[in-house]
Amino acid sequence: MISTATIASMVNLSRKQDGSNDTAAFANDVAEGLSQEQKTLPSRYFYDGRGSKLFQQIMDLPEYYLTRAEFEVLTDNRQDMAAYFSGEGFFHMIDLGAGDALKTKILLRELEKQQSMFDYVPVDISGDAMQQLSESLHDELPELKVEAVVGEYFQALEWLQDNKSERKVVLFLGSNIGNFELTDSKAFLKSVRSYLKSGDRLLMGVDLRKDPQVILDAYNDAAGITAEFNLNLLHRINRELGADFDVNQFNHYALYNPQEGVMRSFLVSKLEQQVTIKATGQSFSFDAWESIHTENSHKYTLNQIEDLGKECGFAIEKVFYDSQRGFADVLFTVS
Ligand code: TRP
Repeated sequence: MISTATIASMVNLSRKQDGSNDTAAFANDVAEGLSQEQKTLPSRYFYDGRGSKLFQQIMDLPEYYLTRAEFEVLTDNRQDMAAYFSGEGFFHMIDLGAGDALKTKILLRELEKQQSMFDYVPVDISGDAMQQLSESLHDELPELKVEAVVGEYFQALEWLQDNKSERKVVLFLGSNIGNFELTDSKAFLKSVRSYLKSGDRLLMGVDLRKDPQVILDAYNDAAGITAEFNLNLLHRINRELGADFDVNQFNHYALYNPQEGVMRSFLVSKLEQQVTIKATGQSFSFDAWESIHTENSHKYTLNQIEDLGKECGFAIEKVFYDSQRGFADVLFTVS
């Protein structure tokens, strides 16, 4: 059962209220990406219905260690983390990119158990995800005060500034920081910092440098689910923008460079071909073996994370590792 109170506590900041504008933005982004010298498609479009399901499957793959590692970090350190969060009285727990919040729920349950004074503000661009999360939390943790926010990170942070005045603990889990280019990750962290005050905290998930083969396998699994996930982007463009990608004529290709610590994912055209996108009325030519870049996943050393934090106004308070020391949730205070 959904209570009206649960539904009422959703804030929609998304400017695009009707689907047609969403489609127009998607079409623009795709056309812009495919017009570049190095073709590229924005990774934010991976997660349509099918993409989200495939990503769920990725998280269950033996090779995809990231989600399990962070689960372990949060499970093993939940008491400690909760104590750090709630030491100074009431706080807003802001979960950027909350999704289904499966990992955050570990902390939510612990905080409830410790009778911490807080409310939970999940933020996500998916309205469906926030609706479902509000409902599941209403069932699982009926006492918890939840105010879901639908919007982009920056919109949400601005809204928080005006609407949430008390102490803040910001969660940025799942190694999402790794999907930003370095300059964008700095801009993002500086922006988060600008909305925080002394006493506020940031808990950030970071995938650490490790055996390159382990990283490569995580993005190129034996069962081919990651390939399907990457290729689904082309299916989605076909479905939603009336394009005619021959998806069988593209390969998934993943590459890890241990010098830079960057995992890059591509879709590679197996032959010379043309693709037409009805929504924009444009055609795009592919040379044989020309690539479309779809995602970067940066892997960091702890020193790099410390420097990144420092440059953006954060100081490390505590680092929580998994047993393999391959993943960390880093707790920052503002400096
Ligand atoms: N962005 C996530 C990550 O870097 C999800 C992901 C897993 C992904 N496998 C992928 C994105 C392959 C693009 C291609 O871990």
